[in-house]
Amino acid sequence: MQVEIFGSGNELSHHVAKKLAQRIGEVQDIGFATGRTMEPIYEALRGYAPLKVRAKGWILDEYLGLSISHPQSYRYFLNHLVFKPLGFTSEQIIYPLLDECSVQDAIDKYEKEFQKMDGLDLQLLGLGLNGHVGLNEPGSSVHSRTRVIEIAELTRKSNLIYFNNLSEVPKSAFTFGIANLLQNKELWLVVTGAKKAEIVKRVIEGEVSEDVPASLLKNHSNITMFLDLEAAQLLKPVT
Ligand code: GLP
Repeated sequence: MQVEIFGSGNELSHHVAKKLAQRIGEVQDIGFATGRTMEPIYEALRGYAPLKVRAKGWILDEYLGLSISHPQSYRYFLNHLVFKPLGFTSEQIIYPLLDECSVQDAIDKYEKEFQKMDGLDLQLLGLGLNGHVGLNEPGSSVHSRTRVIEIAELTRKSNLIYFNNLSEVPKSAFTFGIANLLQNKELWLVVTGAKKAEIVKRVIEGEVSEDVPASLLKNHSNITMFLDLEAAQLLKPVT
């Protein structure tokens, strides 16, 4: 695993956005993540608009129980912060068809599309406070694929900032599994802020374990972790 550390979140966001803008014009399939970590990256990315978009944009995970037009649905988030402003056409956005068919059919169709590509060229990932990636919460198996998962309480509380109260935060979600993530050709795991320093240390210096789902990605042959100094502050110095 490669680790790149930046002096500030701002520097990191501009660096990742620049690389991402290039990839959008080059590769075929890119998976996008949601969350606070991604917001400044996507803001910097919009500075490159309009882009010549070659890639299809895939959605990593999605809340269940929210309408897809709800402003906190991940489809809405990515449509508004990335796909529309950058000029992705509707054919270039791949999302689970949760509004059109049963959840199981949506899972089967998404997984089938994914297998057609034999994984994505690049998947962007954030890191949950408990080590989740996508919404693969602790206990997720290395063999897990696209599925429904119960969202951990810690994750629901951490995502509360996007809602009025905890009862509004969905309890379950649709997510790509760990096996899907491992099948992708390249992974960028982006982490900023002091709150994540402890979990970053567990991911990088700890064992590969289902207790820390992101650690299951460590043996991927092409994974880069992008950290700001705050997130990297507890790491042992490299000798
Ligand atoms: C959320 C999202 C993840 C995201 C992670 C970190 O629950 N589903 O895709 O990467 O948790 O979020 P944040 O960047 O807001 O800390």
